[in-house]
Amino acid sequence: MTEHDTPVKTPPATEANISARMQELAETILHHDRLYYQDDQPTVSDATYDSLRRQYMELEAQFPHLKPATSPSDRVGYQPSEAFSKVAHKQPMLSLANAFGEDELLAFYDKVRRFLGLSPNDPIQMVGEPKIDGLSAAITYENGQLVRAATRGDGTIGEDITENIKTVKGIPHTLSADAPDVLEVRGEVYLSHSDFQALNNQREKQGLTLFANPRNAAAGSLRQLDSKITAQRNLRFFAYDIGFPIQKPQPTHWEMLELLKQCGFETNPLAKLCDTVQAAQKLYEHILESRPQLDYDIDGVVFKVNDHQTQSTLGFVSRSPRWAIAAKFPAEQSQTVLEDIIIQVGRTGVLTPVAVLKPVNIGGVMVSRATLHNQDEINRKDIQIGDTVIVQRAGDVIPQVVRSILEKRPRDATPYVFPTTCPICDSLVMRPAGEAASRCTGGLICSAQTIERLKHFVSRNAFDIEGLGARNIETLWNDKIILSPADIFELESRQQAGDIALDKREGWGPLSAQNLFDSINIRREISLARFIFALGIRQIGQSTAKLLAKTYTDYGTLQATISEAADQDSEAYTSLISIDGIGPAAVTDLINFFKEPHNLAELQRLQKNLTITPFQAPKNTLNSPIADKTIVFTGTLTQMTRNAAKAKAESMGAHVSGSISQKTDLLIAGEKAGSKAKKALELGVKVISEDDWMSLIKG
Ligand code: IVH
Repeated sequence: MTEHDTPVKTPPATEANISARMQELAETILHHDRLYYQDDQPTVSDATYDSLRRQYMELEAQFPHLKPATSPSDRVGYQPSEAFSKVAHKQPMLSLANAFGEDELLAFYDKVRRFLGLSPNDPIQMVGEPKIDGLSAAITYENGQLVRAATRGDGTIGEDITENIKTVKGIPHTLSADAPDVLEVRGEVYLSHSDFQALNNQREKQGLTLFANPRNAAAGSLRQLDSKITAQRNLRFFAYDIGFPIQKPQPTHWEMLELLKQCGFETNPLAKLCDTVQAAQKLYEHILESRPQLDYDIDGVVFKVNDHQTQSTLGFVSRSPRWAIAAKFPAEQSQTVLEDIIIQVGRTGVLTPVAVLKPVNIGGVMVSRATLHNQDEINRKDIQIGDTVIVQRAGDVIPQVVRSILEKRPRDATPYVFPTTCPICDSLVMRPAGEAASRCTGGLICSAQTIERLKHFVSRNAFDIEGLGARNIETLWNDKIILSPADIFELESRQQAGDIALDKREGWGPLSAQNLFDSINIRREISLARFIFALGIRQIGQSTAKLLAKTYTDYGTLQATISEAADQDSEAYTSLISIDGIGPAAVTDLINFFKEPHNLAELQRLQKNLTITPFQAPKNTLNSPIADKTIVFTGTLTQMTRNAAKAKAESMGAHVSGSISQKTDLLIAGEKAGSKAKKALELGVKVISEDDWMSLIKG
């Protein structure tokens, strides 16, 4: 840190001085934001940046009337844009059909032969390569420069992760070999076992929720709003395809992999060209045997017809290519001793038996807990404490106990007796007829349920509050600092009022407390669907929450309808029950939730602290007039803030840039537009007024 280390003089604290200091700090912060976000070249450390920001925010809190036009408080946290903008894929990102076992691999070869009119034993050259268990990404280069990257999304539209992808190993920023002017490379982003373990160890120390497996950790790391966090995660990438141009530059897949390598990408070293089915089977066996030594998760071998012309002839069937197959591996298993069975009480009161295992390495990942699902499963599998058991881990799912090895059962093995009262609150446990799950009847008095509801409330698909992990929720609940969801949004004001001192807690300091307040503050605005899901109402998952948001649009209407629906003769009840996709049991749970006085009081407090944004039908950016256009705003906008305009443009598929160049498609000139408007005219870039912009976004 050099350039902004201004020596501390203490001038008299007149308003003029304070205003000048605020102005100076605001401009310095803006300058660093630009260096960091636009140029990727920060010149100061994070700590220095944080301190500048804090100095500024303290002044603004005391002298709000002196706030300058460039105030950093108008930008959210470190992040200038609201969330990820959407990118329409030039070519859909499809999935692969699966083959389980040798027979299905042979059947795939036969099908390809029949489609091509070949004889039963005609050879077909294929490339076999490991199927990486990560997330796919599409990275676009223009004239050799990385310009955009997107997640798979729904296959048609993905999320813009350009800044984050630049931090991933195995992806060049500039191509190191000749390639088409526009080139889209596809491949898999993943996290190694060792980096996964290190990340979880660090998160455990910080009281954050642990990632369940390397794939989830990679997904969570790639979808960070702050690319500085992504950069710390050590993500890696294997390239395996070209998405654009449609006519691939090389005649075969094998040669294309070679080109990708020359361009600077990492491709998987186990990939191999197979001339015959036998060679393919051998490669499958070889990769399966290599699996335990690999430092990343793979779940099969992908076989692809080598010749690109033949690939085109074969084409696609529904969402998968006819020219490729994923020959899946069986789930990875290991043996270990089941030392104990404990009960976990979920947010809806379900008691789940969990096996406490002697820690065991399963395919590179240490496992010490596995689910036993429910009482019937334990009985059916005849699992006893002390047994040696087979445990398996497959992809995304929680590790499972497959079975006990009865020959290894020790004499002192003890059968498990399922509890009849809740181990947490002592309330009676009931198992409704016809259901596999046993439930604690403690409801609101059961602390386990309360804590689990809080964890759900802050979880990734709900409020997504970074910094409030499982352990922090538990300790803050135990210390009566967060007892209910609304408490979370009042933490900062309670800290300021001196009611609590988060910064004085063990393991905390002023910086971590401020970080937590920041990550809470950026979530004060939430979509209706996320809000409903966050409430953790029984049977109301993400898709039901979305349906409700879509049907009733805003929170007021939703709450009023559900309250009225308590009367089954009401129109509200009829409307609720006739939503396609919501059954009568879910309707009853909703009505009960919105009847409970404790819940109503909590909802009122939440509403005071939050802005619940009404449901908005997703805009198809493909039909947007500014999809894929590069646009620039200049001058003062009077009808919306610059940030809102930028977010809107991005949600319609545009790329917003800060400066005019030949690549600019459109300039939106607000009041007092200066040199940029002039330059646009010189370059022949189309210029429109703010009014034109408003009608353009209204469609
Ligand atoms: S080729 C048309 N090759 O598997 C799809 N995919 O189920 C072409 N994946 O979404 C994909 N490793 O995320 C291909 N070596 C590999 C792969 C691979 C992992 C993933 C990819 C895709 C999914 C398809």
